Amino acid sequence: MFKIKKQLFIGVDFGTAVTKIYLQEAGIVEEIPTVIALNRRTRGVLAIGEEAKKMIGRNPMNIDVVRPVLKGVVVHFDEALIFLESILDRLKREYLSLLGVKLIIGIPLDLTEVQKKGVIDVGLGSGAKEVYLIEEPIAAALGANLDIEEAKGILIVDIGGGTTDIALISLGGVVLGKSIRIGGDTFNEAIINYLKSKFGLLIGEGQAEEAKIKIGSIVNNRGEHFLVKGRDILTGLPKELHFTSQHLRESIAEHLEEISGVLKDIVNLAPPDLLSDISQYGVYLAGGGSLIHGLNNFLEREIRLKINLIDDPRYAVVRGLGKVLEDINHYRKYLINV
Ligand SMILES: Nc1ncnc2c1ncn2[C@@H]1O[C@H](COP(=O)(O)OP(=O)(O)OP(=O)(O)O)[C@@H](O)[C@H]1O
Ligand SMILES: [Mg+2]
Repeated sequence: MFKIKKQLFIGVDFGTAVTKIYLQEAGIVEEIPTVIALNRRTRGVLAIGEEAKKMIGRNPMNIDVVRPVLKGVVVHFDEALIFLESILDRLKREYLSLLGVKLIIGIPLDLTEVQKKGVIDVGLGSGAKEVYLIEEPIAAALGANLDIEEAKGILIVDIGGGTTDIALISLGGVVLGKSIRIGGDTFNEAIINYLKSKFGLLIGEGQAEEAKIKIGSIVNNRGEHFLVKGRDILTGLPKELHFTSQHLRESIAEHLEEISGVLKDIVNLAPPDLLSDISQYGVYLAGGGSLIHGLNNFLEREIRLKINLIDDPRYAVVRGLGKVLEDINHYRKYLINV
């Protein structure tokens, strides 16, 4: 049975790792890995989301597994379009909309006009009648229930899958911002490289992510370990290792230092009044990459500012998109014109 809606007003957080979807008056309705598997020859779609993600590193020659968003930016337009279209089709099967689909899509800071236009085209190509863009840090701050309209500095850090976006917001705008190409997926790569160079053990991306999430902490957690299984690079034979929080800490230390270095730069550049706000209220941490236990304390020690963890940090951006589309008249001013 169809549910009838005047229009489908949808928020799309096109993440490097996971796409999250908010539907007006329904909330967050989808969370799907941004991965698509295609037949190499015919380009026919074989799998989307979780099923396609499982194929990474396991695909035969005739299957292409594509991640349409790289480091926060849509790079494979055709695949991004098919991906979004399939999500919208699913929603259209559930809801009959009289006026069609309207989208608000989150974009990282510093996109070029061409890149913004590309995102709009993906939205329109996937079947939407209207497409609006909004900067992700603004959405993340709204999703964290912060009052971005006050004359008060808010420093928000979104450690996603492919990027870490750092933005200083005041009076509804981004005063200073920087996006660096480090995120949870970079941590996975770091784990792979660490095990290879330190133990001569070769593991795949899936194992690395599982180890990271299962251990989930850079603080010593009483001998807890996760058994990673891979191959000995010298003998080519199977090899196992008990992966621990210490391994995780050593693997990603360099990246955490880089994040804290950029945070320090932003803090150094902050106008004095905003800096005093940050000192008083601290920094807000969003994004799935921030779910590693102890990461906040590490940053706190490095930058000597309080770090606040946002609830359900992976959904901060999409919750913000939801807030905007539920009260579009109020929040229209934050939408970007292309
Ligand atoms: N419990 C967890 N512990 C550690 N890392 C996690 C956990 N859950 C998810 N992650 C990591 O969070 C990342 C995804 O986070 P998020 O959904 O915020 O990214 P994204 O929005 O897809 O990426 P981006 O914003 O960079 O485009 C992945 O790298 C994933 O491995
Ligand atoms: Mg994100």
